[in-house]
Amino acid sequence: MSSPTDLLAEITTVGADGARGGYSRHVFDRSEHELREWFTGQAEKRGLQVTTDRNANVWAWWGEPAPDAVVTGSHLDSVPGGGAFDGPLGVACSLTAIDLLRAEGFEPSRPVAVSVFAEEEGSRFGVPCLGSRLLTGAIDPDVARDLRDPDGVTFAEAMRSSGLAPDHVGRDDESLGRIGQFVELHVEQGRGLVDLDRSVAVASSILAHGRWRFRFRGQGNHAGATLMDDRSDPMLPAAQLVSATRRAAFTRDGSRATVGRLVPTPGGTNVIASTVDVWLDARSEHGEHVGEIVGELTEVAQQIAVDEGCTVQVSEESYTPTVSFEAGFRDDLSGLLDAPTLPTGAGHDAGVLAATTPTAMLFVRNPTGISHAPDEFAEAGDCLDGTRALARTLRHLAA
Ligand code: GLV
Ligand code: MN
Ligand code: MN
Ligand code: MN
Repeated sequence: MSSPTDLLAEITTVGADGARGGYSRHVFDRSEHELREWFTGQAEKRGLQVTTDRNANVWAWWGEPAPDAVVTGSHLDSVPGGGAFDGPLGVACSLTAIDLLRAEGFEPSRPVAVSVFAEEEGSRFGVPCLGSRLLTGAIDPDVARDLRDPDGVTFAEAMRSSGLAPDHVGRDDESLGRIGQFVELHVEQGRGLVDLDRSVAVASSILAHGRWRFRFRGQGNHAGATLMDDRSDPMLPAAQLVSATRRAAFTRDGSRATVGRLVPTPGGTNVIASTVDVWLDARSEHGEHVGEIVGELTEVAQQIAVDEGCTVQVSEESYTPTVSFEAGFRDDLSGLLDAPTLPTGAGHDAGVLAATTPTAMLFVRNPTGISHAPDEFAEAGDCLDGTRALARTLRHLAA
């Protein structure tokens, strides 16, 4: 039986980002293809039957694909310059949990499947958990097909270039009906387990979270020849918006607001930008605070845009309300594994699936508490604890 860290060691060079550090693995790019192939190879080596659904999610079946299966899995894509564990750890622990159950001679009474969801991070097309949103009908298929990456390539075109048909993306009752219960294992993205001095936890809830794009338009012009009084520079309201996000979140308890991406067009040192796009990521323990933050920032953006002779257009790219994992399922696993429960500020496919399917999550300790960055980490022993906890969970559910 290989350990989850042995499996992760096989993909350390795939999508390694020499320029930014960490990993940049984006849906349908070369590295993500390579990871899909790696996953397929690992599944086939174990005699699991691999299928790809209409929404580009991959499934590996222990037993014939059938309704009411126990499904576990995660994702293989990353944020730009992300860590090695966010996503792949859940996939590696799923495969090694099956190895462990087999080594123990366990024969499931229901099929067990490992799923790999497409575009979990939304790093390429902007909407996180796109594969699970499509699967559950949480996003309009036409909207999804028309999403564009930074080069203007649509999701439909990218699917086609990957040999997949985009015509039938959308709610997939057949695949959904096969998931009796879903359990996602994930590296913890904060310090909850470090503080508790424990290696594995069960998730209690996910913060409400969403993404908004603020597009400031001004007048593109020459950096030297344009007098300071004659400018409509959209970078100025954009910069003020960034400062305002901090206050908007600080004044609302349990809230976070981030601008991690700001793109000026055309983007030249000696060019006053014509457009600046600013992406806001807003989250809160209290769903209503997310709306308040976006409302306040929209007002601020409109005012400062006018002051600078610019315009602003605000659009919502995604929103996921607070997820409280089913209490019975959560407490059952917490008791079974003698594990604490923890909330998380990170989004997951499990959060999307929870709307339609009994769903739970397990977290594995991250000693750095850092995620979405190269310093994300998990000790080999803790990853093995994750595999054992997941195997125990699958055995319990599929007995
Ligand atoms: C995914 O990890 C997210 O919370 O953005
Ligand atoms: Mn992530
Ligand atoms: Mn993740
Ligand atoms: Mn409050």
